[in-house]
Amino acid sequence: MQTDTHNNTIGTIMITQEEILAKAKEIGRQITEDYQGEQIVMVGILRGAVLWMADLMKNVNLDMTIDFMAVSSYGAATKSSGVVKINKDLDTDIEGKTVIIVEDIVDSGVTLNYLRGYFVSRGAKVVRICSLLDKPEGRRVEIDVDYIGFTVDDRFIVGYGLDYDQRYRNLPYITYLED
Ligand code: IMP
Ligand code: MG
Repeated sequence: MQTDTHNNTIGTIMITQEEILAKAKEIGRQITEDYQGEQIVMVGILRGAVLWMADLMKNVNLDMTIDFMAVSSYGAATKSSGVVKINKDLDTDIEGKTVIIVEDIVDSGVTLNYLRGYFVSRGAKVVRICSLLDKPEGRRVEIDVDYIGFTVDDRFIVGYGLDYDQRYRNLPYITYLED
């Protein structure tokens, strides 16, 4: 256990970097198989998905491009406000394309539900979702997640891209904040 200068206590390691890298290899291979002969656009959701997306894309052997979007719904709180705001839009024309959204975690499902609708409205042919983590107990809207790295308990997760008030993104493993 570890207490930082802001008096937040971090729990023990839940998922190691090695486990994440192995999972990126597994899911990357699966995506390579699932979209053979297709062109895909991988869209990472800033900022949490950056580390996971970097690992994942190195294992995808397809004709692909990447883009990023930034959305917010949380602010500094640990519970979703349920409102999704686009802070950075796509730079890519996704009309007729197969899009794979890469996310850090699915909690309430509000963000991904909104994004899926948004991509469809922008003319995407197919929209798939790949999330490093899934927290099923937090779910408020039903959402199909096509590729999931790991399922976690209903705790506030930090590390490997995931933040609390913008901090802890640099931790090379997944852990949680103690209450
Ligand atoms: P949702 O809309 O409730 O599914 O929330 C999705 C977004 O909330 C994710 O992209 C994360 O940025 C953030 N989030 C949800 N749960 C956690 C958590 O346990 N730790 C850090 N961020 C979280
Ligand atoms: Mg976040």
